[in-house]
Amino acid sequence: MTEVKTYPVDPELSARAHITPERYETLYRQSIDEPESFWAEQAEQFLDWFKPWDKVMDYDYSKGYIRWFEGGELNVSYNCLDRHLATRGDQTAIIWESDDPAQDKKISYRELHREVCKFANVLKSQSVKKGDRVCIYLPMIVEAAVVTLACARIGAVHSIVFGGFSAESLRDRIQDADCHTVICADEGLRGGKKIPLKTSVDQAVSHCPNVKNVIVIRNTGNDIPWTPKRDIWYHEAMKTASDDCPPETLSAEDPLFILYTSGSTGKPKGLVHTTGGYLLFAAMTHKYVFDYHDGDIYWCTADIGWVTGHSYIIYGPLCNGATTLMFEGIPTYPEPDRFWRIVDKHQVNIFYTAPTAIRALMAQGNDFVNRTDRSSLRILGTVGEPINPEAWEWYYHIVGNERCPIMDTWWQTETGGILITPLPGAIALKPGAATLPFFGVKPEILDNAGNVLEGEAEGILVLSRPWPGQARSIYGDHNRFIDTYFKNFPGYYFAGDGARRDRDGYYWITGRVDDVINVSGHRMGTAEVESALVLHEDVAEAAVVGYPHPIKGQGIYAYVTLNAGVEPSETLKQELIDLVRKEIGAIAHPDIIQWAPGLPKTRSGKIMRRILRKVASNEIDNLGDTSTLADPSVIDEIIDHRANK
Ligand code: WTA
Repeated sequence: MTEVKTYPVDPELSARAHITPERYETLYRQSIDEPESFWAEQAEQFLDWFKPWDKVMDYDYSKGYIRWFEGGELNVSYNCLDRHLATRGDQTAIIWESDDPAQDKKISYRELHREVCKFANVLKSQSVKKGDRVCIYLPMIVEAAVVTLACARIGAVHSIVFGGFSAESLRDRIQDADCHTVICADEGLRGGKKIPLKTSVDQAVSHCPNVKNVIVIRNTGNDIPWTPKRDIWYHEAMKTASDDCPPETLSAEDPLFILYTSGSTGKPKGLVHTTGGYLLFAAMTHKYVFDYHDGDIYWCTADIGWVTGHSYIIYGPLCNGATTLMFEGIPTYPEPDRFWRIVDKHQVNIFYTAPTAIRALMAQGNDFVNRTDRSSLRILGTVGEPINPEAWEWYYHIVGNERCPIMDTWWQTETGGILITPLPGAIALKPGAATLPFFGVKPEILDNAGNVLEGEAEGILVLSRPWPGQARSIYGDHNRFIDTYFKNFPGYYFAGDGARRDRDGYYWITGRVDDVINVSGHRMGTAEVESALVLHEDVAEAAVVGYPHPIKGQGIYAYVTLNAGVEPSETLKQELIDLVRKEIGAIAHPDIIQWAPGLPKTRSGKIMRRILRKVASNEIDNLGDTSTLADPSVIDEIIDHRANK
């Protein structure tokens, strides 16, 4: 290996940081050696409890059994709002920046508290009770935070579905969680384009007989279809709602939300996160990973439809009494300097985004960055996929003017919060490395047989301890939870990623080791895309793999076998792309479709994806062992017609 550059901790930053190198060592050791006392102290420090817990933690990975702070009682919205009112009621809780650069607004903790209480009463008036699931399908508007926190206030379990998912995906998620209430907007707005959210909800809900109410937020104000009795305008319901709504008392292990994510097989999984441990972990990681201090302006560019938006736009920052920025638009609209203009306009100190956005902006050239000031920035962060060193360096040198350390944060929907990451005042950086574990997190690297590898090693990343933010189940299918995460390597949580540990003990995430691909930081099961493709009447079979893509990280490469007698055509290709958009959403559309008269299979009929991945990446000199192929001639045909030459 060539020597990699190291960026030492800036002493000035360290001097004012919550966590210095010495403190990281001490706290990390305590968190591993005495987890009970460590986490008890953190839970007291970060959260207000209505009733203290009886037991800090209890777990049995073989049963997928994970409990934190059992017996404790609290309310998430109380922790994110009420308790701040006395000291920071007039402080801005949310800065909202519209898609249109001329519009923004600020909402204080007091105002947000009032709106949340009112909407909690609206939910109650629609008979939504503790434990009921509520589906939220919204653009990045302030109301998204209001309705999310209102669910938490009354103990309803929210299931936020990313606004870019299609009506079909929405329908599946509403049905899986059996939501009776859906909250949407008339339309979303991104890069000047309208997203017909209400129309998608109508299509989805027509297959969901249990949905009783659709609460609609007027956002663009354009005409939308309306179903009387079922549909309710948010603004009308809010007009008459009382702003007095005491927070419901919830147990630490009551569910807070369900969030769907893709796995290697079958339909998306609804990960269940609970109340006490999740909130503690979101708040604590937010404060320490971004070295958040009172008065900082903090901006995470994720969408609330993803876990990053849940933990690091809403729950973590608001629990810490921070000012969190919510951006409705996209990085390139009206021009590719939009992020940096927003940083200057709102004097953002902490900025957290995804590698795909960095690469896309890097491709636009430095002028868009250089014409902005960005001197308010102190800390930068990335999440969602491995960041290539070239993009890291650009982010560091050009965006951050070599002043701002980059927190490359590794985590997942299942983990609730950040697990492997640098800390600004404590951990030296290496471009492309997620570096070291957060408090209480104990990563291990295993070989394929499950043996623990010591020292410098590369293999499968697992975690040997539970942490408070860990998901507790898959909604409605606890066995799938056990099978997916705890079966392959007994005693460990299996993350689905590979990693390398270098001689300094730093972790480098090498990417997924299963059939999940990461497209622009969006997690996608190749099986889902295949299922969509084979719905087409002309398609006999399809195999989908990822391939390296300069901006998206991974692109979607689909091998499609047509039924006998069907002629391939560009029209058919377009039909297939449209079908995937319709079934899943635009984020899943294949970048490349290759017609394949046959797919490489083993004699037992299993598709050899390893080979398809190599061909898609144009690594044909090194196909590995092909001796188990049923019909080796299939490979030559596929190689001859590959799209990436
Ligand atoms: C990938 C997003 C490398 C990884 C929070 C993981 C990363 C999946 C990083 C989870 C990172 C996320 N470096 N890879 N810093 N962060 N990943 O559930 O493959 O949408 O398993 O959660 O993204 O994606 P998810």
